[in-house]
Amino acid sequence: MKIGVAREIKSDEYRVALTPAGALELKNHGHDVLVEAGAGEGSAFDDDSYVRVGAQIGSVDEIWETSELLLKVKEPVAAEYPRLRAGLTLFTYLHIAADEPLTRALVESGVTAVAYETVETPRGALPLLAPMSEIAGRLASQAGAYFLEKPFGGRGLLLGGVPGVAPGRVVIIGGGIVGYNAAVIALGLGAQVTILERSIDRMRHLEEILSGRVSLLMSSSLQITSSVADADLVIGAVLIPGAVAPKLVTRAMIAGMKTGAVVVDVAIDQGGCFETSHPTTHSDPVYVVEGVTHYCVANMPGGVPITATKALTNATLPYVEAIADKGLRNAVAADPELAKGVNVLAGKITYEAVAQAHGLEYTPLADVLAAP
Ligand SMILES: NC(=O)c1ccc[n+]([C@@H]2O[C@H](COP(=O)([O-])OP(=O)(O)OC[C@H]3O[C@@H](n4cnc5c(N)ncnc54)[C@H](O)[C@@H]3O)[C@@H](O)[C@H]2O)c1
Repeated sequence: MKIGVAREIKSDEYRVALTPAGALELKNHGHDVLVEAGAGEGSAFDDDSYVRVGAQIGSVDEIWETSELLLKVKEPVAAEYPRLRAGLTLFTYLHIAADEPLTRALVESGVTAVAYETVETPRGALPLLAPMSEIAGRLASQAGAYFLEKPFGGRGLLLGGVPGVAPGRVVIIGGGIVGYNAAVIALGLGAQVTILERSIDRMRHLEEILSGRVSLLMSSSLQITSSVADADLVIGAVLIPGAVAPKLVTRAMIAGMKTGAVVVDVAIDQGGCFETSHPTTHSDPVYVVEGVTHYCVANMPGGVPITATKALTNATLPYVEAIADKGLRNAVAADPELAKGVNVLAGKITYEAVAQAHGLEYTPLADVLAAP
Protein backbone atom coordinates (compact mmCIF):
# COMPACT_ATOMS: atom_id res chain seq x y z
CA MET A 1 0.00 0.00 0.00
CA LYS A 2 1.08 3.61 -0.57
CA ILE A 3 1.28 5.19 2.88
CA GLY A 4 1.64 8.96 3.22
CA VAL A 5 2.72 10.96 6.26
CA ALA A 6 1.47 14.56 6.21
CA ARG A 7 3.15 17.52 7.85
CA GLU A 8 0.91 19.08 10.52
CA ILE A 9 -0.11 22.64 9.75
CA LYS A 10 -2.24 23.29 12.85
CA SER A 11 -0.57 25.97 14.99
CA ASP A 12 1.59 24.76 17.90
CA GLU A 13 1.56 21.15 16.62
CA TYR A 14 5.05 19.66 16.38
CA ARG A 15 4.23 15.95 16.41
CA VAL A 16 4.37 13.72 13.34
CA ALA A 17 2.30 10.57 12.79
CA LEU A 18 5.17 8.16 12.04
CA THR A 19 8.77 7.84 13.27
CA PRO A 20 11.58 6.57 11.02
CA ALA A 21 11.46 3.33 13.08
CA GLY A 22 7.78 2.96 12.18
CA ALA A 23 8.51 3.78 8.53
CA LEU A 24 11.09 0.96 8.43
CA GLU A 25 8.58 -1.55 9.85
CA LEU A 26 6.10 -0.59 7.11
CA LYS A 27 8.81 -0.87 4.44
CA ASN A 28 9.64 -4.33 5.81
CA HIS A 29 5.99 -5.26 5.30
CA GLY A 30 6.42 -4.36 1.63
CA HIS A 31 4.68 -0.96 1.65
CA ASP A 32 5.75 2.36 0.10
CA VAL A 33 6.15 5.20 2.59
CA LEU A 34 6.04 8.81 1.37
CA VAL A 35 6.77 11.50 3.96
CA GLU A 36 6.00 15.18 3.40
CA ALA A 37 9.16 17.30 3.41
CA GLY A 38 9.84 18.65 6.89
CA ALA A 39 7.06 16.59 8.52
CA GLY A 40 9.33 15.19 11.25
CA GLU A 41 11.32 18.34 11.98
CA GLY A 42 9.33 19.40 15.05
CA SER A 43 10.00 15.98 16.59
CA ALA A 44 13.73 16.07 15.73
CA PHE A 45 13.45 13.68 12.75
CA ASP A 46 14.94 15.31 9.63
CA ASP A 47 14.04 14.17 6.11
CA ASP A 48 17.28 12.17 5.85
CA SER A 49 16.32 10.00 8.82
CA TYR A 50 13.30 8.78 6.80
CA VAL A 51 15.28 8.43 3.56
CA ARG A 52 17.83 6.23 5.36
CA VAL A 53 15.12 3.66 6.14
CA GLY A 54 13.85 3.61 2.56
CA ALA A 55 11.02 6.17 2.71
CA GLN A 56 10.61 8.82 0.01
CA ILE A 57 10.18 12.54 0.63
CA GLY A 58 7.41 14.34 -1.27
CA SER A 59 5.56 17.64 -1.56
CA VAL A 60 2.24 18.31 0.16
CA ASP A 61 0.38 17.76 -3.14
CA GLU A 62 2.11 14.42 -3.81
CA ILE A 63 1.35 13.14 -0.31
CA TRP A 64 -2.36 13.98 -0.43
CA GLU A 65 -2.92 13.04 -4.07
CA THR A 66 -1.07 9.72 -4.30
CA SER A 67 -1.46 8.08 -0.86
CA GLU A 68 -3.95 5.29 -0.27
CA LEU A 69 -3.51 5.52 3.50
CA LEU A 70 -2.66 8.92 4.98
CA LEU A 71 -1.31 9.20 8.52
CA LYS A 72 -1.73 12.43 10.48
CA VAL A 73 -1.78 13.54 14.10
CA LYS A 74 -4.48 16.22 14.21
CA GLU A 75 -7.76 16.56 12.34
CA PRO A 76 -7.60 18.25 8.93
CA VAL A 77 -7.96 22.04 9.17
CA ALA A 78 -10.27 23.92 6.76
CA ALA A 79 -7.44 24.52 4.25
CA GLU A 80 -7.04 20.74 3.96
CA TYR A 81 -10.75 19.93 3.37
CA PRO A 82 -10.46 20.27 -0.45
CA ARG A 83 -7.74 17.57 -0.35
CA LEU A 84 -10.10 14.93 1.10
CA ARG A 85 -11.23 12.45 -1.57
CA ALA A 86 -12.74 9.03 -2.22
CA GLY A 87 -10.09 6.32 -2.37
CA LEU A 88 -8.15 7.84 0.54
CA THR A 89 -8.15 6.36 4.05
CA LEU A 90 -7.28 8.96 6.68
CA PHE A 91 -6.03 7.71 10.07
CA THR A 92 -5.65 10.49 12.68
CA TYR A 93 -7.14 12.10 15.81
CA LEU A 94 -10.46 13.51 14.56
CA HIS A 95 -12.74 14.46 17.52
CA ILE A 96 -15.52 15.17 15.01
CA ALA A 97 -18.41 14.92 17.48
CA ALA A 98 -17.40 18.50 18.35
CA ASP A 99 -16.75 19.61 14.75
CA GLU A 100 -19.70 19.72 12.37
CA PRO A 101 -17.93 21.43 9.41
CA LEU A 102 -15.27 18.71 9.38
CA THR A 103 -17.87 15.95 9.73
CA ARG A 104 -19.70 17.30 6.68
CA ALA A 105 -16.43 17.66 4.72
CA LEU A 106 -15.55 14.03 5.47
CA VAL A 107 -19.01 12.80 4.45
CA GLU A 108 -19.17 14.87 1.27
CA SER A 109 -15.66 13.95 0.10
CA GLY A 110 -16.16 10.16 0.22
CA VAL A 111 -12.93 9.76 2.23
CA THR A 112 -12.64 6.89 4.72
CA ALA A 113 -11.97 8.45 8.13
CA VAL A 114 -10.62 6.35 10.98
CA ALA A 115 -10.21 8.17 14.30
CA TYR A 116 -7.45 7.26 16.74
CA GLU A 117 -9.58 8.29 19.69
CA THR A 118 -12.47 5.91 19.02
CA VAL A 119 -10.39 2.73 18.53
CA GLU A 120 -11.62 0.81 21.57
CA THR A 121 -10.85 -2.55 23.19
CA PRO A 122 -13.69 -4.87 24.26
CA ARG A 123 -13.09 -3.74 27.88
CA GLY A 124 -13.67 -0.10 26.91
CA ALA A 125 -10.02 1.03 26.96
CA LEU A 126 -8.88 3.60 24.39
CA PRO A 127 -5.40 2.40 23.35
CA LEU A 128 -4.62 5.36 21.08
CA LEU A 129 -5.58 7.99 23.67
CA ALA A 130 -3.78 6.30 26.56
CA PRO A 131 -0.22 7.33 25.59
CA MET A 132 -1.23 11.01 25.50
CA SER A 133 -2.88 10.67 28.92
CA GLU A 134 0.31 9.09 30.27
CA ILE A 135 2.32 12.04 28.99
CA ALA A 136 -0.15 14.68 30.21
CA GLY A 137 -0.25 13.08 33.67
CA ARG A 138 3.51 13.05 34.00
CA LEU A 139 3.77 16.64 32.73
CA ALA A 140 1.08 17.78 35.19
CA SER A 141 3.24 17.14 38.24
CA GLN A 142 6.31 18.52 36.49
CA ALA A 143 4.48 21.75 35.52
CA GLY A 144 2.98 22.04 39.00
CA ALA A 145 6.39 21.73 40.67
CA TYR A 146 7.80 24.40 38.35
CA PHE A 147 5.01 26.95 38.91
CA LEU A 148 5.24 26.49 42.70
CA GLU A 149 8.64 28.17 42.53
CA LYS A 150 8.63 31.80 43.66
CA PRO A 151 10.14 33.33 40.48
CA PHE A 152 7.31 31.74 38.46
CA GLY A 153 4.55 33.13 40.69
CA GLY A 154 4.31 30.24 43.14
CA ARG A 155 4.40 29.96 46.92
CA GLY A 156 8.11 29.22 46.80
CA LEU A 157 7.86 25.60 47.89
CA LEU A 158 9.99 22.61 46.89
CA LEU A 159 7.56 19.73 46.37
CA GLY A 160 9.99 17.14 47.70
CA GLY A 161 11.04 19.11 50.80
CA VAL A 162 14.42 18.22 52.32
CA PRO A 163 15.37 16.22 55.42
CA GLY A 164 13.85 18.17 58.32
CA VAL A 165 11.40 20.13 56.13
CA ALA A 166 8.00 18.72 55.15
CA PRO A 167 7.29 17.97 51.46
CA GLY A 168 4.51 19.67 49.52
CA ARG A 169 1.00 18.23 49.34
CA VAL A 170 -0.33 17.12 45.97
CA VAL A 171 -4.02 16.31 45.54
CA ILE A 172 -5.05 14.50 42.35
CA ILE A 173 -8.75 14.37 41.51
CA GLY A 174 -9.41 11.31 39.30
CA GLY A 175 -7.16 8.26 39.49
CA GLY A 176 -7.31 7.04 35.88
CA ILE A 177 -4.39 7.08 33.45
CA VAL A 178 -3.63 10.80 33.90
CA GLY A 179 -4.05 10.60 37.67
CA TYR A 180 -1.87 7.52 38.09
CA ASN A 181 0.93 9.00 35.98
CA ALA A 182 0.74 12.34 37.80
CA ALA A 183 1.03 10.41 41.08
CA VAL A 184 4.08 8.46 39.91
CA ILE A 185 6.00 11.66 39.10
CA ALA A 186 4.83 13.53 42.22
CA LEU A 187 5.95 10.56 44.35
CA GLY A 188 9.25 10.52 42.50
CA LEU A 189 9.74 14.18 43.40
CA GLY A 190 9.14 13.26 47.04
CA ALA A 191 5.74 14.94 47.49
CA GLN A 192 2.96 13.74 49.76
CA VAL A 193 0.25 12.51 47.39
CA THR A 194 -3.51 12.04 47.78
CA ILE A 195 -5.75 10.67 45.03
CA LEU A 196 -9.51 11.29 45.15
CA GLU A 197 -11.43 8.72 43.10
CA ARG A 198 -15.02 7.64 42.94
CA SER A 199 -14.48 4.11 41.61
CA ILE A 200 -13.76 1.67 44.43
CA ASP A 201 -12.40 -0.92 42.00
CA ARG A 202 -9.97 1.63 40.57
CA MET A 203 -8.86 2.59 44.11
CA ARG A 204 -8.23 -1.08 44.93
CA HIS A 205 -6.07 -1.35 41.82
CA LEU A 206 -4.17 1.86 42.69
CA GLU A 207 -3.62 0.56 46.21
CA GLU A 208 -2.02 -2.56 44.75
CA ILE A 209 0.24 -0.87 42.19
CA LEU A 210 1.28 2.10 44.36
CA SER A 211 1.75 -0.16 47.40
CA GLY A 212 0.42 2.19 50.02
CA ARG A 213 2.58 5.17 48.99
CA VAL A 214 -0.46 7.41 48.30
CA SER A 215 -3.59 8.20 50.30
CA LEU A 216 -6.67 7.06 48.42
CA LEU A 217 -9.90 8.83 49.36
CA MET A 218 -13.45 8.59 48.07
CA SER A 219 -14.22 11.68 46.01
CA SER A 220 -17.13 13.76 47.36
CA SER A 221 -17.80 17.49 47.58
CA LEU A 222 -16.93 17.52 51.26
CA GLN A 223 -13.69 15.59 50.76
CA ILE A 224 -12.67 17.74 47.79
CA THR A 225 -13.28 20.90 49.85
CA SER A 226 -11.02 19.82 52.70
CA SER A 227 -8.30 18.21 50.55
CA VAL A 228 -8.06 21.21 48.21
CA ALA A 229 -7.79 23.67 51.12
CA ASP A 230 -4.68 21.87 52.41
CA ALA A 231 -3.01 21.31 49.05
CA ASP A 232 -0.03 23.06 47.46
CA LEU A 233 -0.78 21.53 44.06
CA VAL A 234 -4.15 20.20 42.82
CA ILE A 235 -4.32 18.21 39.58
CA GLY A 236 -7.70 17.77 37.85
CA ALA A 237 -7.75 14.42 36.02
CA VAL A 238 -11.36 13.26 35.92
CA LEU A 239 -13.13 11.87 32.90
CA ILE A 240 -16.74 10.91 32.41
CA PRO A 241 -16.66 9.25 28.97
CA GLY A 242 -18.60 11.15 26.35
CA ALA A 243 -19.52 14.01 28.70
CA VAL A 244 -18.07 17.38 29.62
CA ALA A 245 -15.96 17.30 32.79
CA PRO A 246 -17.91 17.96 36.02
CA LYS A 247 -16.96 21.21 37.81
CA LEU A 248 -15.79 19.53 40.99
CA VAL A 249 -13.77 22.47 42.38
CA THR A 250 -15.74 25.69 42.83
CA ARG A 251 -14.44 29.24 42.83
CA ALA A 252 -15.07 29.34 46.60
CA MET A 253 -12.82 26.31 47.08
CA ILE A 254 -10.11 27.99 44.98
CA ALA A 255 -10.47 31.14 47.11
CA GLY A 256 -9.93 28.97 50.19
CA MET A 257 -6.55 27.71 48.92
CA LYS A 258 -3.16 29.03 50.00
CA THR A 259 -1.90 32.06 48.08
CA GLY A 260 0.59 30.93 45.41
CA ALA A 261 -0.75 27.36 45.31
CA VAL A 262 -1.08 25.82 41.83
CA VAL A 263 -3.89 24.00 40.05
CA VAL A 264 -3.27 22.01 36.85
CA ASP A 265 -6.53 21.20 35.02
CA VAL A 266 -5.62 18.34 32.68
CA ALA A 267 -9.32 17.73 32.00
CA ILE A 268 -9.50 21.16 30.33
CA ASP A 269 -9.86 19.45 26.92
CA GLN A 270 -13.26 18.24 28.18
CA GLY A 271 -14.17 21.66 29.59
CA GLY A 272 -12.14 21.44 32.80
CA CYS A 273 -13.04 20.36 36.34
CA PHE A 274 -12.30 23.68 38.12
CA GLU A 275 -14.97 26.39 37.93
CA THR A 276 -12.21 28.96 37.33
CA SER A 277 -10.49 27.11 34.43
CA HIS A 278 -10.20 28.27 30.84
CA PRO A 279 -7.94 26.79 28.16
CA THR A 280 -4.39 28.13 27.81
CA THR A 281 -1.52 27.46 25.40
CA HIS A 282 2.12 26.44 25.76
CA SER A 283 3.21 29.95 24.88
CA ASP A 284 1.05 31.47 27.66
CA PRO A 285 0.30 28.53 30.00
CA VAL A 286 -0.81 30.12 33.29
CA TYR A 287 -3.03 32.80 34.80
CA VAL A 288 -3.98 33.69 38.38
CA VAL A 289 -7.45 33.59 39.97
CA GLU A 290 -8.02 34.23 43.71
CA GLY A 291 -4.24 34.14 44.22
CA VAL A 292 -3.96 30.61 42.78
CA THR A 293 -1.92 29.88 39.65
CA HIS A 294 -3.95 28.00 37.00
CA TYR A 295 -2.19 25.85 34.36
CA CYS A 296 -4.80 24.73 31.79
CA VAL A 297 -2.93 23.82 28.59
CA ALA A 298 -5.34 21.93 26.36
CA ASN A 299 -2.70 19.99 24.38
CA MET A 300 -0.07 19.21 27.00
CA PRO A 301 1.68 16.42 25.00
CA GLY A 302 2.32 18.97 22.23
CA GLY A 303 4.99 20.46 24.51
CA VAL A 304 7.09 17.30 24.35
CA PRO A 305 6.82 16.27 20.68
CA ILE A 306 9.87 13.98 20.70
CA THR A 307 8.33 11.81 23.42
CA ALA A 308 4.76 12.17 22.16
CA THR A 309 5.61 11.26 18.56
CA LYS A 310 7.40 8.08 19.63
CA ALA A 311 4.61 7.13 22.07
CA LEU A 312 2.00 7.75 19.37
CA THR A 313 3.77 5.61 16.74
CA ASN A 314 4.27 2.81 19.30
CA ALA A 315 0.52 2.73 19.84
CA THR A 316 -0.74 3.28 16.28
CA LEU A 317 1.72 1.11 14.34
CA PRO A 318 -0.01 -2.27 14.86
CA TYR A 319 -3.27 -0.79 13.52
CA VAL A 320 -1.47 0.93 10.62
CA GLU A 321 0.16 -2.39 9.73
CA ALA A 322 -3.20 -4.17 9.85
CA ILE A 323 -4.84 -1.61 7.51
CA ALA A 324 -1.86 -1.63 5.14
CA ASP A 325 -1.40 -5.42 5.07
CA LYS A 326 -5.05 -6.43 4.76
CA GLY A 327 -6.77 -3.37 3.31
CA LEU A 328 -9.24 -1.41 5.44
CA ARG A 329 -12.31 -3.59 4.83
CA ASN A 330 -10.57 -6.86 5.73
CA ALA A 331 -8.72 -5.25 8.63
CA VAL A 332 -11.90 -3.97 10.30
CA ALA A 333 -13.70 -7.25 9.62
CA ALA A 334 -10.88 -9.05 11.46
CA ASP A 335 -10.54 -6.59 14.35
CA PRO A 336 -13.53 -5.11 16.21
CA GLU A 337 -11.19 -2.69 18.05
CA LEU A 338 -10.16 -1.09 14.78
CA ALA A 339 -13.75 -1.23 13.45
CA LYS A 340 -14.72 1.10 16.34
CA GLY A 341 -12.30 3.65 14.90
CA VAL A 342 -14.17 4.01 11.60
CA ASN A 343 -16.17 7.24 11.83
CA VAL A 344 -17.00 7.88 8.16
CA LEU A 345 -16.99 5.43 5.24
CA ALA A 346 -18.25 5.94 1.69
CA GLY A 347 -20.18 9.09 2.62
CA LYS A 348 -21.92 7.50 5.61
CA ILE A 349 -21.38 8.26 9.30
CA THR A 350 -20.60 4.92 10.91
CA TYR A 351 -20.01 6.10 14.50
CA GLU A 352 -23.32 6.61 16.28
CA ALA A 353 -22.26 9.30 18.78
CA VAL A 354 -20.96 11.47 15.93
CA ALA A 355 -24.20 11.20 13.95
CA GLN A 356 -26.22 11.95 17.09
CA ALA A 357 -24.07 14.96 18.00
CA HIS A 358 -24.91 16.64 14.66
CA GLY A 359 -28.44 15.26 14.12
CA LEU A 360 -27.19 13.45 10.99
CA GLU A 361 -27.99 9.96 9.75
CA TYR A 362 -26.15 7.01 11.30
CA THR A 363 -25.39 3.89 9.24
CA PRO A 364 -23.88 0.88 11.04
CA LEU A 365 -20.46 0.01 9.67
CA ALA A 366 -21.59 -3.54 8.85
CA ASP A 367 -24.33 -2.14 6.54
CA VAL A 368 -21.86 0.05 4.64
CA LEU A 369 -19.41 -2.84 4.30
CA ALA A 370 -22.18 -5.15 3.05
CA ALA A 371 -23.32 -2.67 0.37
CA PRO A 372 -22.20 -3.64 -3.13
N1 LIG B 1 -4.85 18.55 28.54
C1 LIG B 1 -4.30 17.57 27.84
O1 LIG B 1 -3.38 17.77 27.07
C2 LIG B 1 -4.81 16.17 28.00
C3 LIG B 1 -4.09 15.07 27.50
C4 LIG B 1 -4.58 13.78 27.73
C5 LIG B 1 -5.78 13.60 28.44
N2 LIG B 1 -6.47 14.70 28.89
C6 LIG B 1 -7.73 14.61 29.65
O2 LIG B 1 -7.47 14.15 30.97
C7 LIG B 1 -8.67 13.62 31.51
C8 LIG B 1 -8.41 12.28 32.18
O3 LIG B 1 -8.06 11.32 31.18
P1 LIG B 1 -7.71 9.81 31.56
O4 LIG B 1 -7.15 9.18 30.34
O5 LIG B 1 -6.93 9.75 32.82
O6 LIG B 1 -9.17 9.20 31.83
P2 LIG B 1 -9.50 7.88 32.64
O7 LIG B 1 -10.86 7.45 32.19
O8 LIG B 1 -8.37 6.92 32.59
O9 LIG B 1 -9.59 8.38 34.16
C9 LIG B 1 -10.60 9.24 34.64
C10 LIG B 1 -10.86 8.88 36.09
O10 LIG B 1 -11.71 9.88 36.65
C11 LIG B 1 -12.50 9.21 37.61
N3 LIG B 1 -13.62 10.07 38.00
C12 LIG B 1 -14.77 10.32 37.31
N4 LIG B 1 -15.54 11.17 38.04
C13 LIG B 1 -14.85 11.45 39.19
C14 LIG B 1 -15.12 12.25 40.32
N5 LIG B 1 -16.28 12.94 40.46
N6 LIG B 1 -14.18 12.31 41.30
C15 LIG B 1 -13.02 11.63 41.19
N7 LIG B 1 -12.72 10.84 40.14
C16 LIG B 1 -13.64 10.76 39.16
C17 LIG B 1 -12.89 7.92 36.93
O11 LIG B 1 -13.35 6.94 37.86
C18 LIG B 1 -11.58 7.53 36.26
O12 LIG B 1 -10.79 6.67 37.07
C19 LIG B 1 -9.64 13.54 30.33
O13 LIG B 1 -10.50 14.65 30.35
C20 LIG B 1 -8.73 13.61 29.12
O14 LIG B 1 -9.42 14.09 27.98
C21 LIG B 1 -6.01 15.95 28.66
